[in-house]
Amino acid sequence: MPILIENIKELVQIEDSPKLMVKGAEMAKLPTLKDAWLFIEGDKIVAFGKMKDLNKQELFFANEDIQVIDAKGKMVFPSFVDSHTHLVYAAPREIEYIDKIKGLSYEEIAKRGGGILNSAKKIQEASEEELVDAAMKRLDEIISYGTGAVEIKSGYGLTTESELKMLRVIKKLKILSPLTIRSTFLGAHSIPMEYRSNQSLYVDLVINEMLPQVAEEGLADFIDVFCDTGFFTVEDTERILEAGLKYGIRGKIHANELDYSGGIQAGVKYNALSVDHLEFTGDAEIEALLNSETMPTVLPGAAFFLGMVYAPVRKMMDAGLPLALASDFNPGSSPSGNIQLILSMASILYKMLPEEAINATTINSAYAMGLSKELGSIAIGKKANVFITTEIPSYEFMPYAYGSNKVETVILNGEIKNLPASVGPGSV
Ligand code: NIG
Ligand code: FE
Repeated sequence: MPILIENIKELVQIEDSPKLMVKGAEMAKLPTLKDAWLFIEGDKIVAFGKMKDLNKQELFFANEDIQVIDAKGKMVFPSFVDSHTHLVYAAPREIEYIDKIKGLSYEEIAKRGGGILNSAKKIQEASEEELVDAAMKRLDEIISYGTGAVEIKSGYGLTTESELKMLRVIKKLKILSPLTIRSTFLGAHSIPMEYRSNQSLYVDLVINEMLPQVAEEGLADFIDVFCDTGFFTVEDTERILEAGLKYGIRGKIHANELDYSGGIQAGVKYNALSVDHLEFTGDAEIEALLNSETMPTVLPGAAFFLGMVYAPVRKMMDAGLPLALASDFNPGSSPSGNIQLILSMASILYKMLPEEAINATTINSAYAMGLSKELGSIAIGKKANVFITTEIPSYEFMPYAYGSNKVETVILNGEIKNLPASVGPGSV
């Protein structure tokens, strides 16, 4: 049934002529319409405007049944787009988190077989059904926070069998969940112990054994590599990105989280859709990103949880770059998919304006998933993935009121999604 949302206090992130992304100073602009209405038909946004211009009679004449929602005092946003997660996993890693509290670093934990290798062991033991069930709960949780599209990576398999298992799980999630989902093959997430003395052999396995099967089954929209100190080198990364392109699979890589790894430049060189993390971004990295088609993506949850330095986002935007933000939802470095919390972190820790943070989690993160033609803003013809807030005084309240859920009603693919009575952080 078509849906009319009327009396909207403010309709946020509207576009008359849709763009693929916003960059530099444009990031501080957030077009909105006050006292507005929005009309949804099928799974698309069909029309919107000011209440004073709403011709209800005409709408009801053209449509037999319309569900009318009165949004008095509430705002409507396009659903958030979370362009970087690892939310298929078999078990949380809260015990390692205690090691971290006691002083061990992320790299030290990884070196002794913890971290990603710990998750890989658990994935190898889990069935596809168990992984689907656990991931569906997490998906429902992120829906309740306003996320409408999500990228999910493999990378806790690290054997051909287990990587394929993870990607098949993601394929099932695409069918089962109302979220728009994109999958990323991250075979090169960590180097398994048995390859530590010859890591290029593992890269060979990723390229020559895993990737052909992933491509054959159509399991990946993107390919990823963790290009950083102690993980994969620039040479490994370039080999993998090049191999991906041979199958028409574009890169979306982990880069410069732990050091100036050269990952950003490698990503740009192979026209990656995004380079993500970016704590270590200097002038050379910014220069490489300018005039590229690669979306710099910052993951505040991971930097916050690991106590890292924060990516120089102001410097990047001042240089004219676009910027996307994502949750990095994963059991090791960011055990939360709450995108509203990411908005708050962006403002509090990175000094991003609410407008910049909202652009970074809507239109720009949609770009980072190759989806900005269909998602990421309120525009005629785009997919009807939107949410209605609780009664909030302004859109600035969204990042300001950190920790509380400001989303009341979620519409995905033009349908109202029943939110579970209580989903809170903590589902494992
Ligand atoms: O994006 N940095 C690499 N990969 C993940 C962490 C995964 C894990 O620790 O399980 C990340 O933070
Ligand atoms: Fe990640």
